[in-house]
Amino acid sequence: LRTAAVIPAAGRGVRLGPGAPKALRTLGGLPILVHAVRAMARARAVSVIVVVAPPDGAAEVRALLDAHGLPETTDIKVVPGGPERQDSVRLGLAALPDDVDVVLVHDAARPLVPVETVEAVVDAVRGGAPAVVPGLPLADTVKSVDPDTGAVTGTPKRSLLRAVQTPQGFDRAVLAKAHSSVSGEVTDDAGMVEQLGVPVLVVPGHEEAFKVTRPLDLVLAEAVLARRRV
Ligand code: CTP
Ligand code: MG
Repeated sequence: LRTAAVIPAAGRGVRLGPGAPKALRTLGGLPILVHAVRAMARARAVSVIVVVAPPDGAAEVRALLDAHGLPETTDIKVVPGGPERQDSVRLGLAALPDDVDVVLVHDAARPLVPVETVEAVVDAVRGGAPAVVPGLPLADTVKSVDPDTGAVTGTPKRSLLRAVQTPQGFDRAVLAKAHSSVSGEVTDDAGMVEQLGVPVLVVPGHEEAFKVTRPLDLVLAEAVLARRRV
């Protein structure tokens, strides 16, 4: 049985500002998506990758990936995504071959995740955890607020919090069940699995697995890449 990675790349990247869809913007001269696909393909366990392209951009993404000569040891499929990240992940899961039993879901917007982080997630799922997320302690103190008045309603103890990243790894059946039964506002796949009452394990994340969200993140990503190249 095989391990697959689903890469949601269908977002527009509104917070990054005007331009091409975020996954197609370049970093070190290559599309962000190409970095993300390579990061998954580098993990020895991953032999299938499903890229979820912008809804009207599957052909363009296919051509882009073919033009960048990706590893032949990995099957790469491209499917169109949907309006919300959750929809895109669901469409990606629907395209997985039958012989896949472990699934990673990895944001295209985290192009620089190190292979060690990917492999730590796969190993924990293969070791028996049904759901695994990479996470890091927070630098900032976090407060909950009343969005209407701005009044602080609480300060969760920082030492108990983790900022979670991707790839998030799952037993395929568990993730499929979560996507077919859970709805409502959820911002990650593990959050859906939690709603089923399935335990989720945090393993150490990595600073370089940060998400390219705002313009300053692109500056940081370029600097990380430049440092790797020296
Ligand atoms: N994503 C997706 N389908 C959507 C929305 C998001 O596949 N309908 C993907 C993005 O392409 C990205 C990942 O989910 O790789 C994480 O989302 P985010 O960082 O929020 O990216 P965008 O939604 O593109 O950015 P923004 O929210 O600023 O528009
Ligand atoms: Mg978004």
